[in-house]
Amino acid sequence: MRMRAAVLEEFGAPLVVQEIDLAEPKAGEVLVRLVACGVCHTDMYTASGADPSGYAPAVLGHEGAGVVEKLGEGVSDLAVGDHVVTLFSPQCRECVHCLSPRTNLCMAIRAEQNLGHLPDGTVRLSRDGQPIRHFMGTSTFAEYTVMPEIALAKVPQEAPLDRCALFACGLSTGLGAAMYTAKVEAGSTCVVFGAGMVGLGAVAGARLQGAERIICVDLSEDRLELARGQGATDTWIGGGDTVQRILDETGGYGADYTFEATGIVAVMRQAVESARMGWGLCTVAGVAGKGETLDIIPRYLIQGRRVCGSSFGGVKGRDQVPLLVQRYLDGDLDVDPFISHRIALEDVNHGFDLMHHQDGIRSVIEF
Ligand SMILES: NC(=O)c1ccc[n+]([C@@H]2O[C@H](COP(=O)([O-])OP(=O)(O)OC[C@H]3O[C@@H](n4cnc5c(N)ncnc54)[C@H](O)[C@@H]3O)[C@@H](O)[C@H]2O)c1
Ligand SMILES: [Zn+2]
Ligand SMILES: [Zn+2]
Repeated sequence: MRMRAAVLEEFGAPLVVQEIDLAEPKAGEVLVRLVACGVCHTDMYTASGADPSGYAPAVLGHEGAGVVEKLGEGVSDLAVGDHVVTLFSPQCRECVHCLSPRTNLCMAIRAEQNLGHLPDGTVRLSRDGQPIRHFMGTSTFAEYTVMPEIALAKVPQEAPLDRCALFACGLSTGLGAAMYTAKVEAGSTCVVFGAGMVGLGAVAGARLQGAERIICVDLSEDRLELARGQGATDTWIGGGDTVQRILDETGGYGADYTFEATGIVAVMRQAVESARMGWGLCTVAGVAGKGETLDIIPRYLIQGRRVCGSSFGGVKGRDQVPLLVQRYLDGDLDVDPFISHRIALEDVNHGFDLMHHQDGIRSVIEF
């Protein structure tokens, strides 16, 4: 079929919206009609050429939500008409990692996905017979996508798909960091560094877990206002004195849980150093620049602080994204303030500009 898509033709140049071809779903694959798709930093990072593992031409986009239109052979878990959220982090339910409750890093299709292929090593995207690769296994800056069944989470029909799209990446990453990676305990003190989509999700996740005190640190007053809306009890402008301030406010010990959602290694270090001695857990969600390293004084670890990372919030996508969307439907999560701009596919480069200028939390493409 023919469809419109935003193609990364050349690193560092704007995406080109154009008509390309999409082949039929093969065995285990599903054709999805996209209804909404968020614009995320990872798309912009890859488009810029800064990501050493990037490839072109490719159709970018990974925060998609839509409707199942057609099933490939052997698809058993989804039906035509189902509403789905796309998962760059799939869940096959069979590999060694899927069978463990300790991680969400499914191994089933990793190698081919990293090459921009579908699981059988081929692509469904093309133009004039020339192959175009699938970004993150999702390629949702397009009217349609073909994806493996194991990378689609079925969500409740009554959930609006524009809101659902946010659960495909940033929001679930933040929520999950607090709920599934750190498993925040009720009554605890949490500090969240960064109040973008991921940090705001972590604030909401800490609240859902029953945290007593949630300190959110950012450089923007507007974003701290949003953090208060998500349940932050204290909001501070960040700076060189943040660690000392946290120690001063916690009897000199530090916070039970800290979360890093800025991608800045100096802030990651603050998150480590402001975790409580004895049992403080620092969860790193931000993606640092290429080649950057995190400095930790070993004494901080000897004294019982722990550090862990979190990919997609530790969320096992097919099982847990629907549960998170249900929390939204139940009124436990206020998702609406995160959608700051609604744009057309043609305006995807404008979405990058808005993100570059930190204008709003998320631009959502509506198809
Ligand atoms: N681990 C994952 O699976 C995953 C998924 C999505 C995004 N990410 C990463 O998470 C990070 C956050 O993503 P986002 O979409 O929320 O980004 P964002 O840019 O919208 O938010 C980052 C926030 O950090 C704030 N900040 C900057 N310097 C600061 C400082 N010194 N102290 C406190 N706050 C500071 C900024 O003001 C901004 O509000 C990025 O690095 C992104 O690549 C990771
Ligand atoms: Zn993303
Ligand atoms: Zn798996």
